[in-house]
Amino acid sequence: MKLCIDDANVEKIRRIYESFPVDGVSTNPSILAKAGRPPYEVLREIRSIVGAEGELFVQAVSLNAETMLEEARRIVRELGDTTLVKIPCIPEGFKAMALLRGEGIRFIGTAIYTPMQGFLAAKCGAEYAAPYINRIDNLGFDGVQVAKDIHDAITRSGLDSGLLAASFKNSQQVLELTKYGVKAVTVAPDVIEGLVKNAAIDAAIAKFISDFQGVAGEGRTMADCG
Ligand code: G3P
Repeated sequence: MKLCIDDANVEKIRRIYESFPVDGVSTNPSILAKAGRPPYEVLREIRSIVGAEGELFVQAVSLNAETMLEEARRIVRELGDTTLVKIPCIPEGFKAMALLRGEGIRFIGTAIYTPMQGFLAAKCGAEYAAPYINRIDNLGFDGVQVAKDIHDAITRSGLDSGLLAASFKNSQQVLELTKYGVKAVTVAPDVIEGLVKNAAIDAAIAKFISDFQGVAGEGRTMADCG
């Protein structure tokens, strides 16, 4: 399963990249707005962290297929062809997906709240379908289950696609889909850090250090003990 960062804060992205096995960065228009700077300026900086091979996800904001295609061309021209254009799963978006496919531009289906949106995106040739787990939960439905349904429908149909599950608010949502073997998740920095934040882990490590230094000496490590 790929793990991506769902954010456009360059400092946070750099911090997570330094410590975690990350495969890419996803953004959406609201995430870019939070950065408070010109979108392409921020996205170029993110690209330099992700590297030429890493996947970067950037969303089109227009509502008709031809303009979505124009946005996609500019996105790929500016940010490279390992950039995947996020296309909303609405009828005009499906139309745009056919155009993008014709030009060999990589894309995913986004703004997914129902299983059939995800399935149709995969059928249109999207590399990923991005269901919004926590937002679906907030509507009173089961976001993880919707994601599993999309994963199953894609897999059982033999389509060459998979999930980029998004909108996580806690570790349990991420764990459920990790266990299910989905293609990818994209997770905000604080939720990624929360995956390994636990008082028991900190206490275990502190005890190892104090026991070791009790015998080897204050401040000693395996690099400089006797
Ligand atoms: O990009 C879509 C998704 O990640 C949104 O997340 O936290 O705004 O629900 P959130």
